[in-house]
Amino acid sequence: METTKVAVVGMGTVGSGVARLLLDHGDRTARHAGRTLWLESVVVRDLAKVRDADLPAGLLSDDLSVITDNPEIRVVAQLIGGLEPARTIMLKLLESGKDIVTANKALLAEHGPELFDRARELGRSIAFEASVAGGIPIVANISQCLSANQVLSLRGILNGTSNYILTQMEEQGDSYNAAVADAQRRGYAEADPTMDVDGADAAQKLAILAHLAFGARVHWRDIPRAGIDTLDLTDLSHAQELGYRIKLLAVAQLLESGLELHVSPTLVKHGSPLAEVRGAFNAVSVVGDAVGPVFFHGLGAGQMPTASAVVADMIDTAVGRTNITFRTLELWSQQEARVQPCDPAQVRSRYYLRLSVDDQPGVMAKVTGVLGDHGISIASIVQHEPDDETPHAVPLIIMTHAASEQASSPAMKALDQLSCVHPPSVCMRVLD
Ligand code: NAP
Ligand code: HSE
Repeated sequence: METTKVAVVGMGTVGSGVARLLLDHGDRTARHAGRTLWLESVVVRDLAKVRDADLPAGLLSDDLSVITDNPEIRVVAQLIGGLEPARTIMLKLLESGKDIVTANKALLAEHGPELFDRARELGRSIAFEASVAGGIPIVANISQCLSANQVLSLRGILNGTSNYILTQMEEQGDSYNAAVADAQRRGYAEADPTMDVDGADAAQKLAILAHLAFGARVHWRDIPRAGIDTLDLTDLSHAQELGYRIKLLAVAQLLESGLELHVSPTLVKHGSPLAEVRGAFNAVSVVGDAVGPVFFHGLGAGQMPTASAVVADMIDTAVGRTNITFRTLELWSQQEARVQPCDPAQVRSRYYLRLSVDDQPGVMAKVTGVLGDHGISIASIVQHEPDDETPHAVPLIIMTHAASEQASSPAMKALDQLSCVHPPSVCMRVLD
């Protein structure tokens, strides 16, 4: 049987899983690739570190030239996180004639155009299934399997760490900090977990999906975003009481005025597929004009689910499939964007508002008056009894009918200026 020599750079959570699949299940990969994928080298930064995979002697090195100087190695899984030295290493690997497989969405979202152009110039390919939604094959599905469609909308839970934290807080009553530490221990979080909880990681993945699905060319930093890092435990229970769960949703939706893009904690109705996504699972709900609604669900973070996507890409690359798709799709090429982002101020949504207000006569009239002045219609109001901790202030929970952000932002500012309101008030989108 033919042999294709492959290598791995970076042997943390994902790299160790990839090495385990290649070494322990060579028969499986050979059957699917029609050739043996032979792991020739693994390059890391620190040779002394204990690894989560048993490597044959002589495989590990801290010198990238064992890969770049070996013309027999054709495919390299580049599994270092962050921007540098990942970008420089990726360019060196391409220039030494290697096809690349990567899970690094931060790198692609920041330097995608440069890296993809360079790969094309050199006749090489970059496969990146693992960079979005871990083990869910969403990149292949959007760019290949659904290619007969105009995607109309895409709503995803794209950050496994945030979803794990929300689930632990909701189901186990864990504190936010304990849940973050647990996600780190389990290998879900980025080296800097701030990227997970502030919505940056989800925005990077959304920028990649929006490019694949809509031909949008949006920098991830330009996507309006909020994370779960400022979420209050009380909002999880108020949402629960109203029949919703709070999820960190990444949304791309075609409107007449352009593409709506945002990442934000959102109340999602109990029983809807997105509300039932638990733990480190991710999900992507796509609506295509021909296929209708399609729902993808699977583990979005963690060693083996991510390694599953990386090794599948290595097989596709060894066989030659990646190179064909890579050339055909012309991703991040000089082409004009097919769609422009819409003005976020015009986008309409239902909102959940939580205000802490004085427990006094006339307060409700003032609050509803402000909303009325801004053209915001109230769907329901719940006022709770004062408790021992805040005897004079009560939480007021308001669900609105659909309103534009142009109306809701100034309304929130005006509410927080009322003397009977204790700011900051909370405002989140609602998805029914
Ligand atoms: P990780 O556990 O921090 O591992 C990163 C590895 O990169 C480490 O082994 C580190 O080497 C190595 N490295 C860093 N700088 C290096 C250098 N200059 N030369 C050689 N090796 C170097 O990260 P991870 O969780 O595996 O994530 C890797 C990538 O996959 C990231 O881009 C991440 O966003 C992405 N991803 C992760 C997951 C997940 O669930 N963890 C899921 C999907 C995508 P040392 O060990 O020697 O320090
Ligand atoms: N830190 C990322 C997450 C890993 O939690 O989703 C998968 O990209």
